[in-house]
Amino acid sequence: MDKFVWDSEKYGIGHELIDHHHHVLMDMVNTVIDLSHQESPSKSDYIQVLMKVSDYSHYHFKAEEGLLATIDYPEFDRQHDEHIAFSEKASLLVTSCDLSQLKKTAHFLKQSLEEHILVEDMKFRPYLSGK
Ligand SMILES: [Fe+2]
Ligand SMILES: [Fe+2]
Repeated sequence: MDKFVWDSEKYGIGHELIDHHHHVLMDMVNTVIDLSHQESPSKSDYIQVLMKVSDYSHYHFKAEEGLLATIDYPEFDRQHDEHIAFSEKASLLVTSCDLSQLKKTAHFLKQSLEEHILVEDMKFRPYLSGK
């Protein structure tokens, strides 16, 4: 599986802090992808990175929702629901921490983050002008 390569043309939504968060999350997901390529990945590395993804995505969603509230974003509820769904799934991944699911998890995280940025977050880009 290919890792994320940050590209502000492709992934930038035009808000410095949010773009920074997304970049950090990509690096974390890349760590999961790296682990999934290892022959015998360590369980503690896996738990650590999953916890980081879970904690940081929680922090990111809070910041993002704070921003969306200040711009009266009309699809706020949809964003919130998407964030909750991801957070629940991330918590489950941490609690199960099943190494046999590592490749599937890497795939899921990459796909979810890509969708989060390119589909959902891109929609609020036009509302950010001047923010
Ligand atoms: Fe979002
Ligand atoms: Fe986001």
